[in-house]
Amino acid sequence: MSDVNRELLYAGKAKDIYKSENENEVIIKFRDDITAGDGAKKDTLSQKGYCNVLISAKLFKVLEENGVKTQYIELLSTDEMRTKSLEMIPLEVICRNIATGSLLKKYPFEANKELKPPIIQFDYKNDEFHDPMLNDSIIKALEIATQEELDEIREITLKINKILSDYLIERGIILVDFKLEYGKDSEGNIILGDEISPDTTRLWDSETYENFDKDIYRKGEEGVVDAYLKVVNLVLSDEEKVKWNVEQI
Ligand code: C5P
Repeated sequence: MSDVNRELLYAGKAKDIYKSENENEVIIKFRDDITAGDGAKKDTLSQKGYCNVLISAKLFKVLEENGVKTQYIELLSTDEMRTKSLEMIPLEVICRNIATGSLLKKYPFEANKELKPPIIQFDYKNDEFHDPMLNDSIIKALEIATQEELDEIREITLKINKILSDYLIERGIILVDFKLEYGKDSEGNIILGDEISPDTTRLWDSETYENFDKDIYRKGEEGVVDAYLKVVNLVLSDEEKVKWNVEQI
C-alpha cells in the first residue's frame, strides 16, 4: 500500500496502525524495531517485521479455522496486514504452560516446571505504571472489563492455548508461554487482536529446547532474526513460503 495520504492512528513500540479506506478496518504495519526491558533496550533488525507479520497472519488463520474470532482479515504485503478495527482492552493476557521468565523472579517455582492447568495472568498495559499484574477486583474497580468479559477472555485464551500448542508441537515447537491482547468490535464482541509472534511468545525447539523467540534478544545474544526465520519455515505451508518469498532454511 502506498504511504501517500495514509493517516497514522497509533505508533506502538514495534507496530504502526493506519486508517484503512474501509470503514471498521485498519492496516497494521509490522516494523523492524525490537525492544526489551520496558523499552530500555531498542534495536532495528532487518526482516523482523517480515517474520512477525507472516507468523501472526498464519497463527490467526489457524485460530479462525478452529472457531476463534480474530482481528485478522488478510496479509497485504510482507509487512502489513488488514484487520478489523477494535477498541482495545488495556490488558496483557499472559498464558503459561512452563514456569520460566518473570514467573521465576517473582515466585518460588522450580525452573521449567510444567504448569497444569496453565497459568493465566492479567497485566495492565500501562507504561507509566510498568504493566503491573492485576486481579479481577482491580480490573473491575478500574472499569477495564466486567466479570463476564474476564470469564470469556479466560475461556478463549485457554482454547487458543490448546489450538496453538497442538499446531506448534506437530511442527517441532513447544508453546512455553505467550501474551495476547483483546479488543471489542463495533458490536461489542470480544475479538483477539494485536499479534502472535516470537516477540510475544516463548517458543522452544521440542528436541533441543533451544529458544526461537525474543529471549535471544533479551539475553543480548546474536541470531534473533535467524531464529524467527526458522519459525516462519516451520509454521508456513510450502505454498505460503513460495507466495511470500520465504528463504527455505
Ligand atoms: O516476561 P514474562 O515471563 O512475564 O513473559 C511471559 C510471556 O508474555 C512471554 O512470552 C513474553 O514474550 C510475553 N510478554 C509480552 N509482552 C509483555 C510482557 C510479556 O509479549 N509486555
